[in-house]
Amino acid sequence: MRTHAAWMMAAAFAAALSFAVAPSTASAADKKAERTWKAKCSSCHGIDGKGKTEMGTKMGIGDMTTAEFQKDLTDAKIKATIENGITREKNGKKQEMTSFKDDLSPEEISALVGWVKAFKK
Ligand code: HEC
Repeated sequence: MRTHAAWMMAAAFAAALSFAVAPSTASAADKKAERTWKAKCSSCHGIDGKGKTEMGTKMGIGDMTTAEFQKDLTDAKIKATIENGITREKNGKKQEMTSFKDDLSPEEISALVGWVKAFKK
């Protein structure tokens, strides 16, 4: 009886522990980046980064999950784009990305740099 109780305790403890650790390997910073991405970026780029949104189609936004899209994207370039936005014409389509310099903190911007790079498979 006594050993049984001890075993139950151990099992409950192990279960609690695995529950605390298991749900996600994503760090708190990732979670925050994901929220910011969904709130500020996904309307154009899509939650999955593929750009298959109404805005994305209209502006011809590329697919961030492809090697093609990622190949020229350095950290510095991603950061500069988030800070300064984009206004240009590409393949006959007007492209416009908002500048987020006044809207996001430096920490949020660097978290997003990581998020964008993580789309690369
Ligand atoms: C209003 C629409 C819109 C929103 C919102 C938007 N973007 Fe963009 N973004 C664009 C367009 C258009 C491009 C150019 C895509 C292309 O050429 O394929 C682009 C390109 C990029 C690029 C590629 C950089 C480059 O120089 O080509 C990155 C990185 C990026 N966006 C990140 C973000 C992040 C992070 C957010 C949220 C903070 C965001 N975007 C929000 C429209 C948007």
